[in-house]
Amino acid sequence: MSRTHTSDVLVVGGGIIGLVTAWRAAQRGFTTTVVDPGPGGGAGQVAAGMLAAVTELHHGEQTLLGLNLESARRYPDFAAELTEATGLDLGYRRSGTLAVALDADDRAHLRELHTLQRRSGLQSEWLNGRECRRLEPMLAPGVRGGLRVDGDHQIDPRRLSRALVTACERAGVVFHRAWAEELSVVRGRAAGVRADDGTGLTAGRVVLAGGSHSGRLAGVPDDVLPPVRPVKGQVLRLTVPERYAPFLTRTVRAVVRGSHVYLVPREDGELVVGATNEELGWDTTVTAGGVYELLRDAHELVPGITELPLTETRAGLRPGSPDNAPLLGPTALDGLLLATGHHRNGVLLAPVTGDVLAHVLVSGELPAVARDFTPLRFRAGARRELSEQTV
Ligand code: GLY
Repeated sequence: MSRTHTSDVLVVGGGIIGLVTAWRAAQRGFTTTVVDPGPGGGAGQVAAGMLAAVTELHHGEQTLLGLNLESARRYPDFAAELTEATGLDLGYRRSGTLAVALDADDRAHLRELHTLQRRSGLQSEWLNGRECRRLEPMLAPGVRGGLRVDGDHQIDPRRLSRALVTACERAGVVFHRAWAEELSVVRGRAAGVRADDGTGLTAGRVVLAGGSHSGRLAGVPDDVLPPVRPVKGQVLRLTVPERYAPFLTRTVRAVVRGSHVYLVPREDGELVVGATNEELGWDTTVTAGGVYELLRDAHELVPGITELPLTETRAGLRPGSPDNAPLLGPTALDGLLLATGHHRNGVLLAPVTGDVLAHVLVSGELPAVARDFTPLRFRAGARRELSEQTV
């Protein structure tokens, strides 16, 4: 006989976004279940954890910038609340970011970014090469200049994931350790999922927060299925031995020959180097070429990196969306909400995503901060439908 389990809210996916959604839902008094074979896993196990609203600004993404900045603004309180709830250190470090240029092309690119940042009212200071090296003496002598952004911080996504699992447990969230296999739709409304262990998980509302997998849950009508695709990122972890500390005091990043490279130094001596950006479907192979390119580019920035032990190589899948922005809130299927498509900004957007989804679960409506991120934006003539929805 198949088993069933019922809750008010069922979250499909136990990565950072699913966990923060479940935590906030449970805090609002909803009985909440997360279905995932390994809660706390997913892209958060690979991500570097840069909270880089300003240095990752791109032309044409000003709307996303607003949401990124709002989430960055909420980070201090979010981190304090999560630490208070769990007693766990999140590796939250407000040490700033330095984006540097190695040649004339990089310099022109950074100058353009600086203009866009200033036009957007953001805090960012232009430094010449000598000033960059005064801040970070390990930088290559050839660095031509850079942007100092003290407001772009970092958190350790593995610690964050662990803390969110603990916070969820303490708030009464039930973890069902299995894959969600198929959404059940009853009388035109999402009613739960069937898990691959045969359990039927029923719920008043289902939140699909499956990261890069969100677009392939069986049973979701084609026109509701989120247009999310996997975007591979290979990431390296090195260790800074005591005798080299402090190797870097802040995140250092650059665009080298058109590829983004960043070095994120943690207080515990870990140094994260990322990341490739590859459209290869579900492939998570760590390749010699990927590792070579990351080390080559990182070495051009910080030559001393070759002295450090290389402790881990890993690849993860970002949940890419057509406009690089997340899909948040009600869908055209009653009872089904989305929290996915966060692409390069999942860790940064965790606080605001949790708050937005909690608001939707309580009120049935997207708060103003998230209106532009409705999943309905990908359906023709869909904005009208939002106010008519029952969620
Ligand atoms: N936000 C950094 C990355 O996605 O590689």
